[in-house]
Amino acid sequence: MRMQAQDVHSAARSTRPRTRHVSIYCKISNNNNVSRSLESPQPQPAKPARKLASIVLAAAVALSPLVPATDVAASEAVATSSAALELQQAYDKYSASYDELDGGAAADALGFPQLRAQLLAQARGRTLEVAVGTGLNLQYYDWAQPAPAAATEATGGGGEEEAAATAAASSGVTSLDTVDLSPGMLAQARARVRGSPGLAGRPIAFQQADVAALPYADSAFDTVVDTFSLCVFPDPQAAMHELARVVRPASGGGGGGGGRLLLLEHSRSDNPLLAAYQDATAGPVAALGKGCVWNQDVEAMAARAGLVVTRAERFAAGTVELLVAEKPAPPQQ
Ligand SMILES: C[S@@+](CC[C@H](N)C(=O)[O-])C[C@H]1O[C@@H](n2cnc3c(N)ncnc32)[C@H](O)[C@@H]1O
Repeated sequence: MRMQAQDVHSAARSTRPRTRHVSIYCKISNNNNVSRSLESPQPQPAKPARKLASIVLAAAVALSPLVPATDVAASEAVATSSAALELQQAYDKYSASYDELDGGAAADALGFPQLRAQLLAQARGRTLEVAVGTGLNLQYYDWAQPAPAAATEATGGGGEEEAAATAAASSGVTSLDTVDLSPGMLAQARARVRGSPGLAGRPIAFQQADVAALPYADSAFDTVVDTFSLCVFPDPQAAMHELARVVRPASGGGGGGGGRLLLLEHSRSDNPLLAAYQDATAGPVAALGKGCVWNQDVEAMAARAGLVVTRAERFAAGTVELLVAEKPAPPQQ
């Protein structure tokens, strides 16, 4: 029997609390800890005439219906809930056509490739990407140069961990673990790596896992990445807590050497009119499209997970948010 996307996502959403916001969200302009500028060059701010186009395109990306794939192998379910299992099955079926949506013309027109590049240029050290999908981000990671032999010797000869920490503190990704619930999406990502000379041979691992129960130790990663997936997770707050659990704490010295969470997400706009429109349409957009609840307050979710947002910037008329967040260092004994 062919599964309809709207049926799947309606069912997936039925267990999820939905919050209606009535206040204007303006934390970015009021919070001194939050910088509006990123290290990479920024796209020009949208001109008024472009704002309408941005919101239409953002809605188109969130609304895009999914087209079934035909060649997805059956898989062992690792989903932690029935809603997650339904999403897994839906993304399995639609994995072959996914790139026409979030990697397609509307996403390009919104500047998503540039936003992915900006975000991922900040990844370094041991890195985890959750809900990796078809691997649209993989081409944007900067890889660390292998540590020179002399540097390894300087750590005392047996210091593999020290060498890894040194590499992480400098720049670039030393290893990339990726997870996704959908074997179909993972198969597409693996194929992307095999077909990309710049990626083949890189230390990239793929694993089927539910973001609600990540198979990693606390504080295991220097960088944790999620893009455009918090809006589809059945319990996005639980996911945010898992991301916070597995990222290494901030260094505490202000030197920027600690762990970081990098997020690029559909978000409730900071424009009150657009936010009201998103609130009014969130249900149908999620039900008719790929299950994306596009009016979530992602910064509030990060705060509830104990994270501190250090950089935040909005795009697509405020409906897409790029965030860098840290887990505070534990207090000194
Ligand atoms: C909208 S796609 C985003 C994919 C990718 N991050 C990107 O930016 O193109 C959402 C992804 O989340 C995955 N997903 C959904 N629920 C999940 C869960 N509970 N745990 C892990 N992955 C999940 C889906 O299989 C899908 O690949």
